[in-house]
Amino acid sequence: MKLLLLGKTGQVGWELQRSLAPLGELVALDSSSTDFAADFRHPEQVVQTVLALRPDVIVNAAAHTAVDKAESEPELAHTLNATAPGAIAQAAQEVGALMVHYSTDYVFDGSGSKPWQETDATGPLSVYGRTKLEGEQLIAERCARHLIFRTSWVYAARGGNFAKTMLRLAKERDRLTVIDDQFGAPTGAELLADVTAHAIREMLRDPAKAGLYHLAASGETTWHGYARFVLEQAQAAGVELKAQPTAIDPVPTSAFPTPAKRPHNSRMNTDKLQTAFGLKLPHWQLGVARMLVETL
Ligand SMILES: NC(=O)c1ccc[n+]([C@@H]2O[C@H](COP(=O)([O-])OP(=O)(O)OC[C@H]3O[C@@H](n4cnc5c(N)ncnc54)[C@H](OP(=O)(O)O)[C@@H]3O)[C@@H](O)[C@H]2O)c1
Repeated sequence: MKLLLLGKTGQVGWELQRSLAPLGELVALDSSSTDFAADFRHPEQVVQTVLALRPDVIVNAAAHTAVDKAESEPELAHTLNATAPGAIAQAAQEVGALMVHYSTDYVFDGSGSKPWQETDATGPLSVYGRTKLEGEQLIAERCARHLIFRTSWVYAARGGNFAKTMLRLAKERDRLTVIDDQFGAPTGAELLADVTAHAIREMLRDPAKAGLYHLAASGETTWHGYARFVLEQAQAAGVELKAQPTAIDPVPTSAFPTPAKRPHNSRMNTDKLQTAFGLKLPHWQLGVARMLVETL
C-alpha cells in the first residue's frame, strides 16, 4: 500500500510520520519538498503530485492554522484550507484513493454546553472556521472514500505548546492569569495519529465507514483547569515554580482580546467514532501527563 502524507512537519504531521510508517510505503511531504510539490498555495501542483504518485491513501495534515492571522489574510486561508483540500479530494477520487483530513470544532459557534455532534448545525465565528468548514464540505462532495476528523485543542510534545508556555511563565512570575470560560479537551497529536492509522485499516476493510467524525480526548476542562493541571504535575515532579497551581487567576475570554473570535464551547461528542472504530478515547489528563514527563 502506498500512502501520501501532506504537511509532514506540523504537530499532527510529525506524529503521522511515525504512526503511518508501518502501514506501507510512505511518501511524506511538506511545503518545501522538492522531489514532489506539496505547497498548498499552488493547489494545481499538489494535484499533479497526487496524479503522479497514485497513492492508495492520502493523509492531509497541512492547513492554515494561525487562527488570528487568518482574519487578515482570508484569501490565503481559503486557498490552504478549502481550495487545496478540495482539489486534492478531486484527484483522490480520480486515482481511487482514500482521503483523510482534519477539521476543527471552530466550524461551530461555540454556544451552549452540550458536546457537539457531527449532525449539529455549523456556524463558524472566524475566517479559520469558515475556511475549514468549506474544506470539509468540498472533500465530502468530491471524494467518496474520505475520513474527516474534527478535533480540538491540539498539542504536541515537539515545538511550543500551551503547557510549556504555562511552565515558563510559572517559573518567571508569582501569579498567572488564564481564561476559564472556554471548555474543551486538550488532544494530543500522538492520539490523533494513532487513531488515524487504526481508522485507515478499518476503513480499507469496510468502506462504509467513510464519513465525518469528532475525535478528541475524553473529559473536559478550561484553559484555567488545563494550566492548573500542568503546574500540579510539574510541582509533583519537583520542578521549582514561582507561581503555585493555586496562584492562577481565572478570567473571561474578554480579558484577552484577539482578532479571531473563539468558541466558548469546544466540547466534542465522540460516540460515533468510538462506536464505528471500536475505540475508547483516553482522558485528556493521560496524554498531557505523558507529554509533561517527556518535556520536564
Ligand atoms: N492545532 C489545533 O489546536 C487544531 C485544532 C483543531 C483542528 N486542527 C486541525 O488539525 C490539523 C493539523 O493541525 P496542526 O496542529 O498539526 O497544525 P500545525 O502544527 O500548524 O501544522 C500545519 C502544517 O501545515 C503546513 N502548511 C502551512 N502552509 C502550508 C502550505 N502553503 N503548503 C503546505 N503545507 C503548509 C505546515 O507546514 P510548513 O511549516 O512547511 O508550512 C505544517 O506542517 C489541521 O487541519 C488543523 O486545522 C488543529
